[in-house]
Parts: sequence; C-alpha cells; structure tokens
Amino acid sequence: MRDSFVRRRAFAASIAVVALILAACQGGDADGTGGASGDGGADAGNYPESPITIVVPFAAGGPTDTVTRLIAEPMAAELGVEIVVQNVEGAGGTVAADQVANAEPDGYTVLMHHIGMSTAPTLYPDLPYAPLEDFETVGLVTEVPMTFIGSPNFEPNTMEELIAYVGENLDTVTYANAGIGAASQLCGLLFETATGLDLTEVPYDGTGPAMDDLLGDQVDFMCDQTTNTSEPILAGEVKAYAVTTPERVESLPDVPTTDEEGLADLQVSVWHGLYVPADTPQEVIDALNAALVVALADENVITRLGELGTAPVPADRATPDAHREHLQSQIELWRPIIEEAGVTAD
Ligand code: MLT
Repeated sequence: MRDSFVRRRAFAASIAVVALILAACQGGDADGTGGASGDGGADAGNYPESPITIVVPFAAGGPTDTVTRLIAEPMAAELGVEIVVQNVEGAGGTVAADQVANAEPDGYTVLMHHIGMSTAPTLYPDLPYAPLEDFETVGLVTEVPMTFIGSPNFEPNTMEELIAYVGENLDTVTYANAGIGAASQLCGLLFETATGLDLTEVPYDGTGPAMDDLLGDQVDFMCDQTTNTSEPILAGEVKAYAVTTPERVESLPDVPTTDEEGLADLQVSVWHGLYVPADTPQEVIDALNAALVVALADENVITRLGELGTAPVPADRATPDAHREHLQSQIELWRPIIEEAGVTAD
C-alpha cells in the first residue's frame, strides 16, 4: 500500500512539472502566475479561451492537491478548456496566495486554498495580502474532517496513550505539519491548547511528503485531513487516534472522535474554496462558479470524496457570497484562539 502512495505522489509530482510547462506555454509569467493576458476583463465575455491554472499552495500528492485534481477534471469539461494544477509550496500556503493575489485578474489564475486563508492574517503579522480585499471568492468546495495518526512503530495506540506518551517524551516526540498557516499546524496548536503540551514540530511543504515520512517512521505523529489519511488508516498502515469532528466519520467507523477521547474543544474541519484576484470581472467569477457547481454534483467527485471521509459542500454554500461570509467568520473565529495560543510566524 505504501508503494501505491509513493507511486501516486510521484505521478502527481510529474503532473506538476507538466503543469509548469503548460503554464509557460500558455503565456504564464516567469513566477508561474499562469496565462495572464494582461487585459484584465477585456475579453470577459468570451472567457475562457485558453487553459486555466489552479494554484495549489501545498505539495503534490497531499490533501489540497487531491481535492483540486478531483474537481479540476469536471470543471475543465464544463468550461471547455484545459485546467492545469500548479503546486506552489512555501510558508504554510502564503507563498501561493501571494502569487495569485498579484496575478492578472482575468480568471486564468485561480487559487485553491483552505482554512489557512482565515488563519494566516493572525499568524503572519506581515502577511503581504489581505484575504478579503485582495481576492474574489468563487465558492466553497468541501469541508474535511481531520484525524490524529501515528507512525506504524510509534508506541501509543490510543489518544489517551498518545497524550501521556507525548507528555513523557516532549523533547523526542516529533509532530509533522505543513508549516505555519497549514491546517495540520492549526490542529497541532489546538492539541497543545487542549493538553497543555508543547509539541516539537517538523514542518514540510505539505502533508503529502509528511505522510511519506510518517509511514517510514521518520516522524511520529500528525493531524491531517481524511482526504490524505483515510487510505493508510483503512489499510492499517498508520495508527489512528481520533477524528476532529463531533460525529464519527462514516468511512472510518472505528476511529473515535476527539470528544469521545475527552478533548471536546479540539474540533476542526478543513474547508476549501476557490479564489481569483480582486477586480476579476463578474462574468468570469460566474463562469468559474458555474463550473464548480457542476463539479460538486459530479458522481465521481461525490463518490471519491465519500471514500475519503468527506463530501462536496451543499449548493447553497458553493456560492461566492456564502464563501466570502464563511471566510470572514472564520477569520474572526480563529483570531482570538491563535492570539491566546501566542503563535506567530515571526
Ligand atoms: C496539504 O495539502 O498538504 C495540506 O492541506 C497541508 C495542511 O494544511 O496541513
């Protein structure tokens, strides 16, 4: 099973390289912001006329990448142009977001981001973009439970044992995350707040590569989205301690909730959404949103997300307005929690 993961990631990485070449061919600029025509909304009525790049802020083969590639196919079919997926890793997703914030507002460079869009403004005092001002929201995509998992030979077998073990081995136990601003970092922060323990964090470019190291016992545990952890959990390749949702996840019936494990306050779901730069013409946003709505109703997308412990958001949440309201409320929700924890990227 591990081989299949490694193969999947190698394949995804090769796709990323092809995506870079395609992005260059379509006239993308040197920093990979895609096929910006430079004419803003001049051709908005004919949109789209050439390939669209969706920028993913974490490594290929990870949960954000998985969701993006899943919806990209039906979106491309609906829009009638190719969609290339470009992985732009770094600084917990903020490098990619900054890149898209500065791209041409023509709909040819789209950002897929997750809950990190709402935590970054508090975590990064010098964040070079403002999520609500520098982007137009296109629509929410999915909301994914998280799971605490341990490497195959990590000693603890239950959440109770995990907390005790981490407490006794604070200097040696390692917690993998995808950098400050990642969902895995936020979940680790919630674990620290709930348990009073200070984790030794090992940052990766995404939880795709983190999972490879965890499967190889090179890092001890992490909290990651079911879109990345379901298969290794079901294959018995990792130890599963808890899911971070109020109810158990249907596809992972044996994994208890954090609430069941005595951590009622440790609850988080990772929502994803699509963004374009501010000032993108409304016709373009509408076209992208219409394609997103079609993708979220696609049988293959629904089935695959179900297998990975989640589902598309309902249609009323896949609108630009619902997405914007959610982003705003999530910025407000997480700010005091992060401030209280005293974590910043400085
Ligand atoms: C990823 O795609 O690698 C993840 O979303 C990283 C994270 O946010 O933990």
